[in-house]
Amino acid sequence: MADRYCVFGNPIKHSKSSLIHGEFGRQTQQDMTYTSELAPIDGFAAAWQAFVAEGGRGANVTVPFKGDAFALCDTLSHRAERAQAVNTLIVGGNGRTYGDTTDGVGLVRDLAYHGVPVQDKRVLVIGAGGAVRSVLEPLLAEKPDELVVVNRTAEKAIQLAKDFSDLGDVKGGGLDAIEGQFDVVINGTSASLSGDLPPLPDQLFTPHAWAYDMMYGAEPTVFLQWAGPRGAKLLDGLGMLVEQAAESFFLWRNVRPDTAPVRSQLRQSLNFSD
Ligand code: ATR
Repeated sequence: MADRYCVFGNPIKHSKSSLIHGEFGRQTQQDMTYTSELAPIDGFAAAWQAFVAEGGRGANVTVPFKGDAFALCDTLSHRAERAQAVNTLIVGGNGRTYGDTTDGVGLVRDLAYHGVPVQDKRVLVIGAGGAVRSVLEPLLAEKPDELVVVNRTAEKAIQLAKDFSDLGDVKGGGLDAIEGQFDVVINGTSASLSGDLPPLPDQLFTPHAWAYDMMYGAEPTVFLQWAGPRGAKLLDGLGMLVEQAAESFFLWRNVRPDTAPVRSQLRQSLNFSD
């Protein structure tokens, strides 16, 4: 019987994960299935246990279960421990659950794919929620000159900067604490979802800067619409989604899929050119 994987979320209807992993599986000729599973809001652990009891080998975890997944793991990767979140579950040989997070690696791989330099650059991250916490360790591993985290609620960014200060030069503050220009500006807030734009200074970008939104959609996000006329090159989070999936796939199957065709396919499905 084919090895079973799935993505758990609530809601789950709009998840692109089964499309992505279906393509990865076909491309690398894996004997596996990958389905979308709606778990009850207060029933994630039971849903995962039932999946394992039926022979499931691993899963992705999306909103709102990344914290629940973190809590139920028997063993965690160090990056999941830092992130306090798990997006990839693996059933070990002895039935124990191993948890990892591939979101941050996904972001860093997508930046590399597009030739965005991070090493020795000034990097600004906007937001201090779960999405940002998951990417800080892999971003700091790229050795930026300075990493500044700003948030509408300043205290959360200050705390986050403290939590990661042993890994590099990372500062935290409120949106009004942004000083100088940045080479890479990453929007990790959920503001894009509601079409909101955090207030940002006009002179935010260096001459060859990149603006990156961890969200994506058929149209550029409000943050990217704001950044374009201010001279930044633009990237949305579609590539990050594909790359985090590729990393999960690698953890399960020990095979690295080619992300390029899946990027195009996903972009086309959004009616948007890469
Ligand atoms: P996620 O898992 O997507 O990170 P989260 O943990 O709820 O979700 O965090 C949402 C982030 O988006 C927070 O940094 C939040 O700022 P606050 O900490 O001040 O709430 C930010 N955010 C959401 N809506 C925003 C808006 N309209 N303007 C600015 N920041 C916003």
